Amino acid sequence: MPEEKQGLRRIRSYVIRTPRASKSHDALIQSAHSEGIYYSLHNYGDREVANLLEYLQSVIFPHPAPWTYAHETPVFSVSAEDNKPLQENKSAYPLFWIDIGFGNGDSLIKFAQQFPHILFLGIEVHELGVRQALSKASRYELDNVLVVRGDVLDLLEAFAGHIRVHAVTALFPDPWPKKRHQKRRLFTEASLSLVAKIMHPGAMFGFASDWQPYSEEVGAFLSSSESFEVLFSPYAPRPFWRAQTKYEKKSIADGRLTRDILATRTDVL
Ligand SMILES: C[S@@+](CC[C@H](N)C(=O)[O-])C[C@H]1O[C@@H](n2cnc3c(N)ncnc32)[C@H](O)[C@@H]1O
Repeated sequence: MPEEKQGLRRIRSYVIRTPRASKSHDALIQSAHSEGIYYSLHNYGDREVANLLEYLQSVIFPHPAPWTYAHETPVFSVSAEDNKPLQENKSAYPLFWIDIGFGNGDSLIKFAQQFPHILFLGIEVHELGVRQALSKASRYELDNVLVVRGDVLDLLEAFAGHIRVHAVTALFPDPWPKKRHQKRRLFTEASLSLVAKIMHPGAMFGFASDWQPYSEEVGAFLSSSESFEVLFSPYAPRPFWRAQTKYEKKSIADGRLTRDILATRTDVL
């Protein structure tokens, strides 16, 4: 096994504590899936991953240079208006954004509401979060959100070489503050180079954490990587598109400061 892969595989970045899905959850996933709106890989295998990739390739209409800069914050250069004919005719999207570890789905849902012309794929390992995000997407009748339950590293490995994204966000990934748990952190040099592999040149990586040592670590990995250019070093102004989640509200109440990192993917791998 290559060393990079070993680094990714050795440790899990999460601990499953939630019970198995209820029957109603299974029904929700089933019906959402049959409507072709959401996709959940329950106990997924190679075939489900292949189906997901095939589906994504059929709905994403590649657009190469997604970002421009306004008020010091990156924004997409393709507007909903530009994409209207595309969506009406082909139900296709010019831009594709992955949100990693979406928790209860609050930020993912806000993203999808703000940018109806972008297709969002949320990847979350906890079943409860998947259930909550599906309910919200269905309540707000969003058709630009896909939700997948699974370990993001498995999915990204499967995507590498097949599909590229215009944005990846990782908001408040578990900080694992205790020294003996630090090895569980999801974002390491190895996982960030995997993230780079699925990004278009010029795509954006957005990271936010209220745990300063984790932000410093990720900032250092990104700065030393040839695949990324860190914008607004060391920390970016709060991006307007990032909604305040339950997690962040608690963190503010506990007196912690959030640090945002924004980086773009260079065209070197
Ligand atoms: C602290 S929560 C933050 C949730 C949300 N992004 C927010 O800002 O409120 C981190 C989330 O990442 C998820 N997670 C951790 N490791 C993961 C992995 N390897 N793949 C997918 N999700 C993961 C956890 O289940 C958890 O819901």
